[in-house]
Amino acid sequence: MKNLLVTGGAGFIGSNFARYMLGKYPAYCLVVYDKLTYAGNLENLRDVETNSRYAFVRGDICDASGVERAVREHAIDTIVNFAAETHVDRSIMDADAFIQTDVYGTYVLLEAAKKFGLRYHQVGTDEVYGWVEQGSSREGDPLEPRSPYAASKAGGDLLIHAYFITHDVQTTITRGANNIGPYQFPEKAVPLFVTNAIDNIPLPLYGDGKQQRDYQFVLDHCEAIDLVLHRGKIGEVYNVGTGVETHNIDMARLVLKLLNKPESLIQHVVDRKGHDRRYSLDVSKLRALGWEPAHTFEAGLAQTVKWYVENEWWWRKLKSGEYREYYRKQYEERK
Ligand code: NAD
Ligand code: TYD
Repeated sequence: MKNLLVTGGAGFIGSNFARYMLGKYPAYCLVVYDKLTYAGNLENLRDVETNSRYAFVRGDICDASGVERAVREHAIDTIVNFAAETHVDRSIMDADAFIQTDVYGTYVLLEAAKKFGLRYHQVGTDEVYGWVEQGSSREGDPLEPRSPYAASKAGGDLLIHAYFITHDVQTTITRGANNIGPYQFPEKAVPLFVTNAIDNIPLPLYGDGKQQRDYQFVLDHCEAIDLVLHRGKIGEVYNVGTGVETHNIDMARLVLKLLNKPESLIQHVVDRKGHDRRYSLDVSKLRALGWEPAHTFEAGLAQTVKWYVENEWWWRKLKSGEYREYYRKQYEERK
């Protein structure tokens, strides 16, 4: 029997992970601990709400007493941490919450792991390696984050390493490439492009659109986290991605093709500050554990587009209110 605390489990990847784990492990109990920021949404977990092995606790990972209470009350033995501020563009506008949650919040969780002897897994990002001009990043490569988001995530990773070395906390880290799939907040490029295209609104492509990302399907990422959680070597880091990069402009074109919309909807806008032109992961370490992604980029994108077409109830209301103000600030002056 395992009792997992899934922090940040009401967000995009965490909610997919919660559903996947409850389905795969009939003996596991799972507590989602989430602050419900603008990116957290209980509707992402609607279909698991009635599961007797699932519970939700609203809480902040920066609040040590809240974390400890959840650990005690639910006899937690494992933390899987998804909680983070995650959008690069927001970190460029204001980095405060990123430093709080991604660095200090990680510290709070590590302290709890130390105190209660918990297994700790961190969901990290390939962005900590920075712009990869040639070749592919390996787990031992230096961290060269270039955005406040990436720097805050790198800070978290370094703390985890320190708690493993100094306090023998049983840690692992996965560093995932860009995820796509159901329940991704429509500020990230893929769901933004898909939902704009459905409404015939221009797709704001930064700069020349020749930046490259390894877009992986979220369930492949969840499987990899599961594998590392159970079979990863303690203290180690594992990259997670397909190993295949796509130019943003080709991603945008494929979105439009899948929706049968014209390419004239692509609108080149002013580039992101400090934009990392390429991320690329060497995923051989994870492959050696026996993992293979089940979806190509094309298959994952097709599934993603289909989900957004069929689930307007989910995303349409997210694109109102605070989102409109964000969109205006973010894109008005880019044209
Ligand atoms: P998301 O923004 O969709 O969700 C983040 C969740 O964390 C939300 O539910 C939010 O309410 C919660 N949260 C934020 N601050 C919190 C706090 N202080 N206390 C408790 N909960 C808090 O993010 P996502 O895309 O699902 O990413 C999940 C994790 O995976 C993050 O750590 C991110 O860095 C990492 N990651 C994401 C990607 C990607 O492509 N989305 C790729 C690699 C790694
Ligand atoms: P994003 O989804 O924000 O992920 P990340 O920057 O963390 O990789 O962006 C993916 C790529 O798409 C990135 O190169 C920036 C680019 N992009 C655009 O061209 N237009 C947009 O409106 C957004 C949000 C991103």
